[in-house]
Amino acid sequence: MGQAFGSYQEEIYLNGLGGVMPRFPMTYADLESRAQATLPASVWNYVAGGAGDERTQRANTTAFDRWGLVPRMFVGAAERDLSVELFGMTLPSPLFLAPIGVIGLCAQDGHGDLATARAAARTGVPMVASTLSVDPLESVAAEFGETPGFFQLYTPKDRDLAASLVHRAEKAGYRGIVVTLDTWITGWRPRDLAASNFPQLRGHCLANYTSDPVFRAGLGTTPEQDPQTAVLRWVQVFGNPLTWDDLPWLRSLTNLPLIVKGICHPEDARRARDGGVDGIYCSNHGGRQANGGLPALDCLPAVVEAADGLPVFFDSGIRSGADVVKALALGATAVGIGRPYAYGLALGGSDGIVHVLRSLLAEADLLMAVDGYPTLRHLTTEALRPLAEGAR
Ligand SMILES: Cc1cc2nc3c(=O)[nH]c(=O)nc-3n(C[C@H](O)[C@H](O)[C@H](O)COP(=O)(O)O)c2cc1C
Repeated sequence: MGQAFGSYQEEIYLNGLGGVMPRFPMTYADLESRAQATLPASVWNYVAGGAGDERTQRANTTAFDRWGLVPRMFVGAAERDLSVELFGMTLPSPLFLAPIGVIGLCAQDGHGDLATARAAARTGVPMVASTLSVDPLESVAAEFGETPGFFQLYTPKDRDLAASLVHRAEKAGYRGIVVTLDTWITGWRPRDLAASNFPQLRGHCLANYTSDPVFRAGLGTTPEQDPQTAVLRWVQVFGNPLTWDDLPWLRSLTNLPLIVKGICHPEDARRARDGGVDGIYCSNHGGRQANGGLPALDCLPAVVEAADGLPVFFDSGIRSGADVVKALALGATAVGIGRPYAYGLALGGSDGIVHVLRSLLAEADLLMAVDGYPTLRHLTTEALRPLAEGAR
C-alpha cells in the first residue's frame, strides 16, 4: 500500500499536545494573505495576477465547486494508495510542482528554484523546472535527490539554442521535457502593466540563457560584461510561435518523454498524440495568458478522451486536496500545483513548500478514506456528480 499521507494531521495534533502550533497556514486563504504580506508588491502582483480582469483565473478555481464527490460506505478504505505509474517510474503521489518562471524570486534568499528542488527531494513530488530560473538547470537538478524532475522548455526561435537547452537537461538527469505552447508571447496582464514590471526585462531569471554556450556564442560579448546586451538578445530569441510543422523537429530533439503543455482542445490532443508526444498537459497557464477563456477543468474530460491512454498532466486552479481528487476523477494522471507552492516558498522556503504539498496530500488521502475510494483506480467520473444549480 502507498504512503500514509493523512498522518500529517496526527503529527500536527500531537505537536499541539506538546504546545507546538503549526508554523504555516492551514487554509489556502491564509496562505495567500500571508504571502501577500511577505512578498514585495512587484513579485506578489506578478505571481498572483493574471490576464485581463482575471475572470478565467477565477473561473479555474470556481469550476471545482460545480462537482461533488459521492461518498461510498462499507468500503473499509483503511489504507490508501495514491501512487502513480508515469513513463516507467512509480511516483508516491499524483502531484507535481508546475513550472513557475519567477519561483527563484519568491524565496527570501532569492534562490527559490533550489528550494523547490529540495522540497521535491523531501516529498517525492517531482518538480517541473522552468526555463526561466535564477539558477541554471544543472544546479536545480543537483538538488532533486532521488525524486525525478522534468525540464520545461520555452522553445526559443534559435533552434540550436533549443537543442542546447534540451541536451543540457538530458545530461543533467531530467526525466522528461515539457514544452509550453501557450506562452510564445506574453498575455495582457494589467497588474504588471500598471507597475511596468516584467522581471526578465530587468535581467531576472535568465540563468539558463546566460549559462548556455549557444546563447553566449551569439552575444558578441559576455552577459557578465554587458548584461543589457544579454537581455536584448533574450528578447530577440525568447518566443517561438510554433506550428504543427515544428512538432517533428521538437520530437527529434530528445528520446526523453516529451509532454506538450497548454492543450485544451481534444483535436489538439489527438494531433499531438499522432505527432509522437508521450504526454498531454491540459492547462490554461492559470489564466495568466488569455482571459475570456474556459476553466481548464472543463476542458479536461475531452482532452483525456482524445489522449486515448497517454498520460494527461493537469493544472490551473488546484487549491485543495478536494480539487486534486476531483481532477483525478475527471481523468488526470498527474496534478500540478502552481501558485500555492509559490506562497509556501515565500513564507518558509523549502519547509513552506513541503507543508503545502503535505497538506494537499493529507487532505486528498483523508477524503479518499472517508468517501471510500482506496486507490486512484477507484476515482472515476462515477465518483462525481454535478451540483444542482442552487447549491453552488
Ligand atoms: C508566477 C508564475 C510563473 C509561471 N511561469 C511559468 C513558466 O515559466 N512556464 C510554464 O510553463 N508555466 C508557467 N506558469 C504556469 C504554471 O505552470 C501553471 O500552469 C499555473 O500556475 C497553474 O495555475 P494555478 O497556479 O492558478 O493553479 C507560471 C505560473 C505562475 C503563477
